[in-house]
Amino acid sequence: MPSVSSSAASHPAAAPRGVDVHPLSPALGAEIRGVDLTRPIDEATFSVIADAWREHLVILFRDQVLSEEDQVRFAQRFGALQGRPRPASMRAETAVKHPEIMLVSNIRENGKPIGSLPDGEMQFHSDMCYIEQPAKGTFLYAIEIPSVGGDTHFLNMYAAYDALPAEIKAKIDGRQAVNVFQYGSTSREGNNPDFDEHPHYTHPMVRTHPDSRRKALFVNRLMTWSIEGMEDAESAALLDALFDHIEQPKFIYEHKWRVGDLLLWDNRCTLHARTDFSDKERRLLRRCVIQGDKPY
Ligand SMILES: [Fe+2]
Repeated sequence: MPSVSSSAASHPAAAPRGVDVHPLSPALGAEIRGVDLTRPIDEATFSVIADAWREHLVILFRDQVLSEEDQVRFAQRFGALQGRPRPASMRAETAVKHPEIMLVSNIRENGKPIGSLPDGEMQFHSDMCYIEQPAKGTFLYAIEIPSVGGDTHFLNMYAAYDALPAEIKAKIDGRQAVNVFQYGSTSREGNNPDFDEHPHYTHPMVRTHPDSRRKALFVNRLMTWSIEGMEDAESAALLDALFDHIEQPKFIYEHKWRVGDLLLWDNRCTLHARTDFSDKERRLLRRCVIQGDKPY
């Protein structure tokens, strides 16, 4: 694993003593060391964190002991918390103080899951891409983790776009696709949308990141259903080819969780997926997201 401090190189004056940025893979991701997120974060430290997020797209803080309040306070440095699109009547019972907090867990009490998205593998997706203003960033904090599996894989959608052949770029630039999610589904095969019932929204297949101004692919296997204005068979074939292109190992960082990890990822230029894990082991993570804008 590389251990070069990119913060020291790019922010010699702003990097406070002991705060370092360590890339996690050639594709994306960086660990930030030397920050205790339970304590107030000064402007210089926050600037290192924000710059690292912009550069590496996914950032990791290890060995954190975070209350719900700590997590929310840190997330709010990046923007307003975003409410959950899922109706309250369809949510699992959760003991959380903030309605924006979601527990991701397979733990069941009295036969009912205490959280959402409980079991098994989950295909690549971007959080809430099926609503008008999808989540900008997701903060996920690990409380209980299985001994094997339940990893999260992250994918760099700038790199995936840049590597496309020119003729495919020409085909999809300016095109729109419908994104839809049947709550609880974890694979394309299991996502059987009823467009009268399930949330869906049409977004550009290639979006421009509002901060970096770079183009990123904005389609994914789990939730991107069809391409607007294209015949069904052609749309399905093109999407399949795009998904296969996107999901190449060279664009991916595979994160193995440890208890106390807090990850922040940018839904505007990354995808994420979960690997399978045993239903005999407990998995509990705490999630909140910050409000995003309408993609363009
Ligand atoms: Fe997700």
